Amino acid sequence: MSKCNVIAIANQKGGVGKTTTAFSLGVALANNNKRVLVVDADPQANLTTYMGFYDEDNIPITLSTLIERYIDGEDIKPEESILHHKEHIDLIPSNLNLSMTENNLSNAMNREYAIKSCLEDLRSQYDYIIIDCMPTLNMITTNALATANQVIVPVQSQYLSAKGMGNLLTIIGKVKRQVNKDLKVGGILLTLVDKRTKLPSTIREELEANYGNIVKLYDTQIPFAIKTAESTSKGKSIFAYDKTSKVAEAYSSFAKEVLREDERERRKNALSKGYDR
Ligand SMILES: Nc1ncnc2c1ncn2[C@@H]1O[C@H](COP(=O)(O)OP(=O)(O)O)[C@@H](O)[C@H]1O
Ligand SMILES: [Mg+2]
Repeated sequence: MSKCNVIAIANQKGGVGKTTTAFSLGVALANNNKRVLVVDADPQANLTTYMGFYDEDNIPITLSTLIERYIDGEDIKPEESILHHKEHIDLIPSNLNLSMTENNLSNAMNREYAIKSCLEDLRSQYDYIIIDCMPTLNMITTNALATANQVIVPVQSQYLSAKGMGNLLTIIGKVKRQVNKDLKVGGILLTLVDKRTKLPSTIREELEANYGNIVKLYDTQIPFAIKTAESTSKGKSIFAYDKTSKVAEAYSSFAKEVLREDERERRKNALSKGYDR
């Protein structure tokens, strides 16, 4: 059977569409009959509330509970934390406790591998695990990168700059060298794209010149549409809230692009191992 793909959605800037991308990509992949788990790795818990679990401070078992169990060397039992969403995707929720847990992690043994260990037993149950990162390059985010096999970087198009990518790519490079050699940058996803502004071709060229061998821009761009922001208070994805929206359409084609890339990667790996003969 297919292996579990773990995708981290990361950018140290807030408000660039990470959480919206985590949920919308998750639902779009589920619409393609994939088994999907999304993980809220942000103490702000925007993904948790976006998915309709509003009373996040009273959720008994969250990602931080699992990480605390890891720190204490207890049995993690990640299935206890899973919440089911109507649109056929599952969630490991978060709340503010994750900030405290981040502090506690600093003295833990093998602290980079906490989230990876927490999710280990769930891998066989999902085709995709999508981790929504917080806008900080701290130990929780490092953990997400240590767990993932690819990172998707949403960037608000008018702020896309090759310079701004530097810190994130440095961390990704470090994680890749030191804790997770399998990590790849899936690419940069342009979000909140206002049709009237065009991406200056100089930025694309600059990115390709500086990071061309490690990053690419996805073909799909996510347009700006006010209904997307409205959907966040309804506990519904953009697909359930307004199926005809351009944003729903864009996330559908984005999911197709992700699926195509993964299939290509899978074939490449199979070929290099000689399975295809
Ligand atoms: N395509 C879009 N069109 C309009 N608003 C959007 C779109 N994507 C996200 N938003 C809104 O922009 C804000 C930031 O998005 P969010 O996904 O929470 O970003 P991040 O997780 O990077 O902080 C939210 O209010 C969200 O509803
Ligand atoms: Mg967010």
